[in-house]
This record gives sequence, structure tokens and C-alpha cells, in this order.
Amino acid sequence: MYFVSSNENKYKEIVDFIQALDRPNFTIKFKQLELEEIQSDSLEKVSEHKALKAFERVRYLTLIEDDGLFIDALNGFPGVYSSYIFKTIGNSGIIKLLSDEKNRKAVFRSVFAFHDGKNIQIFVGEKCGSISHSPEGEGWGYDPIFIPEGFENTFAHLGYEFKNKISHRRIALEKLCTWFLANKQK
Ligand code: IMP
Repeated sequence: MYFVSSNENKYKEIVDFIQALDRPNFTIKFKQLELEEIQSDSLEKVSEHKALKAFERVRYLTLIEDDGLFIDALNGFPGVYSSYIFKTIGNSGIIKLLSDEKNRKAVFRSVFAFHDGKNIQIFVGEKCGSISHSPEGEGWGYDPIFIPEGFENTFAHLGYEFKNKISHRRIALEKLCTWFLANKQK
């Protein structure tokens, strides 16, 4: 299948897990494309639409992913707007918005949509955690400010080998792989 995204960081986090499954007929390649995103309050709807658009371009088994960071004290913001908010106010802007806030809880959601040309299948992974008081560690996106539950440091500080074992993406990816191997690899 093709993983279609503008963000190669996501692919790097996915490919190692799929390779480690060591199924010769289950491989994933990266197709770097900027896909149109619809406005919706649901990551699942955004993902479904992205999968349709990606399949139109690739015309082969297609996987896309859409993520969102949902912050409790901001009533779920930035959520479906996470990409725009990251580009505009960034991690420092998020930290400023929470400057007087004691409740720093947040959830990272990953939604994969797999399109086989006929049907779209959705897989969701969630990681609970909190927002740090300052950016910590070298990492992409919100990794320097997201602390997974049960830990004291951000994803960026914990490092990618570790993040990839416990992340929202990993949880959704395991669901996808279990389904794929049971349904598409007889
Ligand atoms: P999108 O799915 O690419 O639209 O993701 C929304 C925003 O969340 C973008 O700014 C991404 O960089 C960021 N993002 C997605 N997944 C992760 C992650 O695993 N860690 C940190 N930031 C992420």
C-alpha cells in the first residue's frame, strides 16, 4: 500500500513497525502529496475525504492519516485545526494560551483511513497526556510539548524509539495491521 501524506515524519514512524511484522506481501511505500482537507468537526470525516482524494491520485491501496491534539482546558481546541494552529501560533502559542491554567490535560488522536478502491476503513488511536510548561527535546510537531500519561517528559524528550511504542499513531497502526492481515492477506 501507499502511505500518502505531505509529512514524511509520519511515514518514518509507520514503516519500521510494518517492516518488523515481516510479512512479504505487506509493504508500505511513501507518496508525498499535499491533500485537500475539508472543514469538519470530525477527524474521521476529514480522513475519509482525504482517503478519497489520495486514492484518486495513487490508484492503488491507499493509507492516509489525520491527527489532532485536543486540549481539555481549551474545550478540545486545536483538535481538527491542529495543523493550522501549529503553523500559526506553534508550540509557544499553545503554552501561552495555557499560561494560567492548572488543568493541562490533553489527548492526541490519530485516525488512519485505508481505501482499497471500493471501501474505506477507519482506525483510531488515542493517547492521553498533558501539555508541558515549556518545550522540551528535539522533535517535530507537538512532540516537544506533549507529555504522555504515566511519564514526566515530552514525546520529543523521550525519543522516537520510545514514542513509537506508545503513541496514538502506534495504537491506531496496530488496529490497522491486525485488520489488514486478517482481511486482506488470506
Ligand atoms: P495532520 O494530521 O498532519 O493535519 O496533523 C495535525 C497537526 O498535528 C500537524 O501540525 C502535525 O505536525 C501535528 N502532529 C500530528 N501527529 C503528530 C505527532 O505524532 N507528534 C507531534 N505532532 C503531530
